[in-house]
Parts: sequence; structure tokens; C-alpha cells
Amino acid sequence: MTDIDFDRYDRIRPIRWTGDALELLDQRRLPFQVEYVRCGDSDAVAAAIHALTVRGAPAIGIAAAWGAVLAAREVEAADGVAALAALEPALQRLNAARPTAVNLAWALARMRGALAGAGADWRARLEREAQAIAEEDLAANRRMGALGAALIAPGSGVLTHCNTGSLATAGFGTALGVIRAGVAQGRIDRVYAGETRPWLQGARLTVWELEQDGIAPTLIADAAASHLMKSGQVQWVVVGADRICANGDTANKIGTYQLAIAARHHGLKFMVAAPSSTVDMATPSGDAIEIEERDPGELFGVGGVRTAAENVGAWNPVFDVTPHELIDAIVTERGVIERPDAAAMRAAFPG
Ligand code: MRU
Repeated sequence: MTDIDFDRYDRIRPIRWTGDALELLDQRRLPFQVEYVRCGDSDAVAAAIHALTVRGAPAIGIAAAWGAVLAAREVEAADGVAALAALEPALQRLNAARPTAVNLAWALARMRGALAGAGADWRARLEREAQAIAEEDLAANRRMGALGAALIAPGSGVLTHCNTGSLATAGFGTALGVIRAGVAQGRIDRVYAGETRPWLQGARLTVWELEQDGIAPTLIADAAASHLMKSGQVQWVVVGADRICANGDTANKIGTYQLAIAARHHGLKFMVAAPSSTVDMATPSGDAIEIEERDPGELFGVGGVRTAAENVGAWNPVFDVTPHELIDAIVTERGVIERPDAAAMRAAFPG
């Protein structure tokens, strides 16, 4: 396997810890403005997660972990147990910022765990834990990139959805990490990115990210996906995840489910790439996942220009659930789960 040149394929960092504040690359403004916003307290982090200033399942977990570090600055406590009680309201506000991606609750659970047994050094422990969460995510993505790319035959085309790259993670990306690795190894010749209406994570973020790497993606309207599949230009659909249930059902950006249905119809393979922090063995199936619904106003226009007729009502669920039967492979940093179901998930994630 060709080594991946991470200097070329992994240069964007959406989250920066300065030592006394969290800086977030403002994803509402990309690709036209590349600017970081500063969060000086945990409520500013919660608001940034809710507003999609920072987005993507692993990234919101990492941001929330740093939010907990900021919350710790406003609390006096002699040890970890006392700190946990004092921090709990701030942790709950962070957790409530978005409901679907389990990485948020997972990261906050790790931060709570770091306080258990801590003495007067509890603040330092929290900071070390947030750093570890970010570093482990980057390492997981690089590992997934290699594992996922190995499934893709040389000369393939891939279609991806939403943004699952460096912008959505500590770096390198999940599905986009697989695509980066696949391009670097000469396995992937063609990359198609769906626009991802209404927030345009594909058109605004994925395309911009790949261009930083010198990879030229082809943008398609979401509605062009089935037609593209029929053309024979793509062999794999590669997407990320916000929550993978105990039976393999997977929540991801709205529109993923219809891509999986169309992929199966056309005989294409469908891959989900996500770190183990996205696996939620406590949720038995996709029916139990809370699907976030956002402001219907997101559907009324593009870039602030109204495109919908006046006085229309709208429904704006921003995630959907792909049933495990439609998934050929789930790739985590622990390995590849082919044809996932409850038994395969239990074997990969015992206990
Ligand atoms: O609403 P978003 O932009 O946070 O949704 C992001 C996605 O659905 C991603 O596909 C998912 O979080 C995986 S990111 C590595």
C-alpha cells in the first residue's frame, strides 16, 4: 500500500485550542470566508454547535469536550466529584446543542469519566482528556482511511454525501478520509460530491476541502445521484455517520437513505466510515434515534436569496436512517464489518 502524504491530504483544522479559548473555523461562511470564531466559555461553544459554526459528528464531540474545559474555569471545586456536580448544568447544555450525533454525548461521558477519582488536579485531567479525544479521532480517521480504501478496486469512482472531512473531525475525515486514501493510492479515479441541500455541506465544504488537497471533485445535484449511478461512473457510495445502532442501522445526513436504496438498485456498494465513538450499542435500532429537525426557513432560499414561493410550509429533518440491510460495509478504526447486523455488531463491539 502506498503511504499517504498527510502534508498534502490533511491540512485543515476546524478546531483550535489556544490554551484559554476555543477557536472554530466558521463553517457557515465557508468557502467564501475562511475565519475562526473565538469561544471563551462553554455556552458560546454550545451555541456554536447549535448554529453549525462547527459541525460533523466527531467535531461536535471534540468541541463539546473543550467546552467542558472552558466550563471548568467558572467552577470552584476541591476534587473531581465536587467538580462533576458543579459542571453538570453546563455539560447538559452542551449535550442539548444537537440531538442526533452520539459523539456529543460520548465525548461528554468521557469528560465526566475523567473527573472520577480526580483530586485537586481535576482541571488538568479534563484538559488532557479533551486533547486525547481529539488526538484519538485523528488517529482513528487515518486508520479508517487505510481500511476503507483497501475495499475499493483500482480505477473506481465514488459518490459521497454531506461533508465528512477534516472540517467534520479532528482532521483527515471519515468517509472523506477513505476517499483521500483511495485517491492517494490510485484506487479512486473519480470523486462525485452531492450538493447536500439545504445547508450545502457538499457544495460548500466537501468541494472546498478536496480542492485544498488538489483533488478535483465533480459536484452533482442531489437529485442527479440515481442517474449518475446508472451511468456506471461510480462503484461505491461512501458516507459518514452520526450514530450507528446495535443492529447496524445508521443515521446520517438527510438524503443518505435514498442513496443507499439507489445504490442497491444499481448494484453499487455502500460504505459507512465512522470512528467507534459514533457506535451506540445502547440504541437497538434506527427507530429509536432522535432525528433533528431544523428551521424550515433553511428550505426557503439559497445564500439568503428566497427561492420558495411565499407562505409555503416546510418540513426540514436533517438526518435520516439507512437500514443495515442496505449497508455493505461499516468501517471503524477497529476494522471492517461486512454486511452489518446485530450479530456482526456485537462481535465487533462486545460488551
Ligand atoms: O448537520 P451536519 O453537517 O453536522 O451533519 C453531518 C453529517 O451528517 C456527517 O455525514 C456525519 O456527521 C459524519 S462527519 C464525519
